[in-house]
Amino acid sequence: MTQTNWDAVDGFIEEKLLPYDAALEAALAANRSHGLPAIDVSPAQGKLLHLLARMCGASRILEIGTLGGYSTIWLARALPEGGKVVTLEIDPRHAEVARANVENAGLADRVDIRIGPALKSLEEIGEGGEPFDLVFIDADKPNNANYLDWALRLSRPGTVIICDNVVRNGAVLDESDSDPNVVGVRASLSLLGNTPGLEATAIQTVGVKGYDGFAIGIVG
Ligand code: SAH
Ligand code: DHB
Ligand code: MG
Repeated sequence: MTQTNWDAVDGFIEEKLLPYDAALEAALAANRSHGLPAIDVSPAQGKLLHLLARMCGASRILEIGTLGGYSTIWLARALPEGGKVVTLEIDPRHAEVARANVENAGLADRVDIRIGPALKSLEEIGEGGEPFDLVFIDADKPNNANYLDWALRLSRPGTVIICDNVVRNGAVLDESDSDPNVVGVRASLSLLGNTPGLEATAIQTVGVKGYDGFAIGIVG
């Protein structure tokens, strides 16, 4: 099996299970025309996030790493009336494209885009506020364990935590790899495994984004 098969099967899954969606397609087109890196979650992955958010009835969602808001739109569409996605993005150009995409999708009233380094925004969000029901971590990988730490502080028992890109073509296996992205992902997997009460797993994925994976956990 090769990337060609993975692309074709993702195309087939989209054809069978993901009806054409003008706002999502427009968001991807805008992201590419503004030169944002093509690292949005895939359509099938976006829908997985959406389904997970609905399955756990999430009404307060935290996303770390907005890019052009493609995953944000999938998540925001899972919200019940009065729900909110807070999404953190360091690059004001990305946030501006995301703002327009979210507006075009009719979701501006339920998406709060915070511009700045996520660790700074997380400190502002702070502890002690209303906890989030679902947290999606998908920003700079060297900070993954820090983001997971914050996700735990901003959680309640039952909060679902999802991390993107935990396999990276299998690079995660190599404990001698000094790439800060790999070191960061390995640290977050260790923390997921060692935090009392947190139950987590990771699933390897193939598809239009190549060979990667998601980690998913539930706070005890
Ligand atoms: N979740 C998006 C993809 C996010 S890509 C989607 O699937 O559609 C990762 C994003 O994290 C990029 O836009 C990048 O600018 C942002 N990022 C990188 N470092 C960051 C930091 N320190 N704080 C906040 N955002 C950061
Ligand atoms: C990269 C980052 C991502 O969040 C992703 O989903 C794919 C690739 C990257 O930085 O290369
Ligand atoms: Mg990602």
